[in-house]
Amino acid sequence: MARLCWLPGDGVGPEVADEAQQVLATCAQARGWRLEFEPGLIGGASIEATGLPLTEPTLARARACDAVFKGPVGGPAWDHLRGEQRCEAGLLRLRKGLEVFANLRPAAVGPELVASSPLRPELIGAGIDILIVRELTGGIYFAEPKGRDGDRAVDTMAYSAAEVERLARVGFEAARLRRRRVTSVDKANVLESSRLWRDVVSRVAADYPDVVLEHQLVDSCAMLLVTRPAHFDVIVTENLFGDILSDEAGVLAGSLGMLPSASLGHPGRPGLYEPVHGAAPDIAGRGVANPIAAILSAALLLRYSLGRSDEARAVEGAVADALALGLRTADIAPAGHVPVSTQAMGSAVRTALAARLGR
Ligand SMILES: NC(=O)c1ccc[n+]([C@@H]2O[C@H](COP(=O)([O-])OP(=O)(O)OC[C@H]3O[C@@H](n4cnc5c(N)ncnc54)[C@H](O)[C@@H]3O)[C@@H](O)[C@H]2O)c1
Repeated sequence: MARLCWLPGDGVGPEVADEAQQVLATCAQARGWRLEFEPGLIGGASIEATGLPLTEPTLARARACDAVFKGPVGGPAWDHLRGEQRCEAGLLRLRKGLEVFANLRPAAVGPELVASSPLRPELIGAGIDILIVRELTGGIYFAEPKGRDGDRAVDTMAYSAAEVERLARVGFEAARLRRRRVTSVDKANVLESSRLWRDVVSRVAADYPDVVLEHQLVDSCAMLLVTRPAHFDVIVTENLFGDILSDEAGVLAGSLGMLPSASLGHPGRPGLYEPVHGAAPDIAGRGVANPIAAILSAALLLRYSLGRSDEARAVEGAVADALALGLRTADIAPAGHVPVSTQAMGSAVRTALAARLGR
């Protein structure tokens, strides 16, 4: 039996999480395993109910489950809040509380999505398939000192060798299952923390002689992602650079609504799965959000936390099937194409999934 902590979040979160939940239920039903969802609140929804963006009991429940699925948090109603009261503070506490230090963000553009990508087809070539492995619990988002004193504010970029090493190993292991190329991204020409980063990643690379390692400065990496995207396989990088580069890579896939993520920590502990996109308050409640990022996050959950790789592949294949049928939500629909709703996309994926699992 699998127990999942289910935190739909705010804005479009509940809409897309519902589609992901039904996809997981379809897998469990087709393959005869038991699945239990433990619902909880995070972000604005939690603030409204408890005054806090994440409560201690919710965090304890998340820790006790096999995996955690989280929708996006935030929205204009809570933008005025500060510090620990902010929606993002709940999200950061959840990541820290689960000790998920490696954030895996795949960004792929296959033949069916070339028309939705802002890049010219010749830049996409035979396809783009990038996996960004972002450090998630250290760096400038967490290190001290941090704070504001009148007209002066400070944030600190700090890393230990141990933090860099465990992240680098996740990247090299992932590359072994892919095209065996790791691009380590830093700002070693300016930042001392980046020089440590580069030294440690180079040292770890010696344990992976079958994987090619290259170092790239973050500014040139940002440029190469749009000029030579097919060059990249696995990108390993620190928290802030990874946050920015993964959104940039997301645009290559046509929309943030296509991008899933998995956050992994220590073996045997629950992973955290969430779409990369935010709460999208501009389209929330209208049934038009793209559920694919949430559905593909559920596929990663099947693969990394439940060890159900063939069902994960079936979900990914079912998404490709639905896209191959021509279904597009508004964010990925080319001009003149009639978009489908969140529910229609989810339903088409489940139909294709049931067919794949029944084969
Ligand atoms: N991980 C998270 O919980 C997370 C991440 C980013 C932003 N946020 C929060 O979300 C709120 C809105 O932030 P933002 O506008 O900068 O980013 P956003 O990702 O919510 O939206 C950016 C654009 O992408 C579109 N979009 C996002 N997801 C989509 C989907 N599934 N389908 C179709 N279109 C989609 C939106 O409509 C918007 O035009 C803020 O409160 C922000 O703090 C949360």
